[in-house]
Amino acid sequence: MIKTLRLAQLTRIARSLSIPHRAAASTFAPSFQLSTIPRAVPVPNAIASESPAPHSLALVSTHKASIHDAVKQLAANSAQNEPFFLLDVGDVYRKHEAWTAALPRVEPFYAVKCNSDPLVLQSLASLGTGFDCASLVEMRTMLNYGVDAKKLIYAHPCKPPSHIRFAQEQGVELMTFDNEDEVMKIKSIYPEAKLVLRVHTDDSKAVCKLGKKFGAAPSEVSDVLKKAASLDMNVVGVSFHVGSGCFDASAFTEAIAVAREVFDEGARQGYRFSLLDVGGGFPGDASAPVGFHQIAPVLNQALDQYFPASMGVRFIAEPGRYYVASAGTLAVNIVSKRKLKAEKAGEAPTFFYYVNDGTYGTLNNVMYDHAEPAASPLHEQEGPTFSSTLWGPTCDSMDCITRTAMLPEMNIGDWITFRNSGAYTIAAGCTFNGFPRPKMVYTFSTPAGFDAAALPASFPLAPSHLEP
Ligand SMILES: Cc1ncc(COP(=O)(O)O)c(C=O)c1O
Repeated sequence: MIKTLRLAQLTRIARSLSIPHRAAASTFAPSFQLSTIPRAVPVPNAIASESPAPHSLALVSTHKASIHDAVKQLAANSAQNEPFFLLDVGDVYRKHEAWTAALPRVEPFYAVKCNSDPLVLQSLASLGTGFDCASLVEMRTMLNYGVDAKKLIYAHPCKPPSHIRFAQEQGVELMTFDNEDEVMKIKSIYPEAKLVLRVHTDDSKAVCKLGKKFGAAPSEVSDVLKKAASLDMNVVGVSFHVGSGCFDASAFTEAIAVAREVFDEGARQGYRFSLLDVGGGFPGDASAPVGFHQIAPVLNQALDQYFPASMGVRFIAEPGRYYVASAGTLAVNIVSKRKLKAEKAGEAPTFFYYVNDGTYGTLNNVMYDHAEPAASPLHEQEGPTFSSTLWGPTCDSMDCITRTAMLPEMNIGDWITFRNSGAYTIAAGCTFNGFPRPKMVYTFSTPAGFDAAALPASFPLAPSHLEP
């Protein structure tokens, strides 16, 4: 099935990805087929240096095909069996729809660090989300995409002075802090900043605990606020992070109760806070132990209880993995294999498979995100399964993706996929040992009845871009 990209569409996508118009037109035009992987387009240095994500990119249509089918076709047409990463922008779009339906009062400020792919960022900007930025580069990236400085929060409690100066120059007012030294530093650089006090709340109900590093303990809150008041700093609200990968909705209720106490302490110190930032932690894929749709009503109820509408508080959140986890599928290829004979007669052998992306690359989430990636053979196979270890491609024995996969016997050249790979993966991988990052491939999947007219005109990639 041939999918044509018209010149105007190409130009629009190219602009959104900062690919020079001519380069995009000549590379994509006149058409490509679902059954043929389009040629990789080198991404200009400007993007490559700002964003760790794509080093090459392509588009593929999933119109009338499932993501799984699309991955199969991309794999079948891969000349060198190089790893690739299929990012479904339609999935990101639907996440936003679900967010606004379930949490209509909570403005999402997407956590850029989670996946800073240009299409993800520009899609969300076009949908009107705000952005949680952790650094100068993240702020600059979003400002370059035309996002208003007022829609950014510099949500790193410990900030280099030059980054604070940048925020001041660009009018990024909102920023978090969690101790007296930080507020003194901000005062000396950016006395007009609007500060949000990040408080430590219980993060024991999350996979990645962030409280070890950040957040004013309840016992410190009073002194920190006193210091801020003595410096005449404008503290406008409170933030917390229940921990990334939260698996118990009650963590939000408890954190919101703590935040309310901090609001009351602020009032005792002469502040009238107007902002509550409920942070991140929202799960992003259906396999999470607690789903977003279980957390949302609990959060709404806690907001009603502790922050009634009469207080006039603005609610924001910093979701990261929620938006992108399920949008990403990584496909890797087996480059080597080793069969390990069973120690006892009659027992099944086990297998080592060496694949061409690993924990130094896209699957760095094994190290940094406590991830246990679920490996699936791309092509279903009948027959017995065996205990299998998947190794990444580098010379390092730490480069182990999983030791607990149960797979049918696979062969060199076979493909393995990892669904739900959109969060904290391509954002942090490197090219250690000279293994390149996966090629980025984009699509916009559409469920039955999808109304393309609902997309904002500025949305960077739409199903129509992939239609004949
Ligand atoms: C300050 C801050 N906000 C938001 C996030 C995003 O968290 P999540 O991906 O769990 O939503 C993080 C993740 O580390 C963070 O540090």
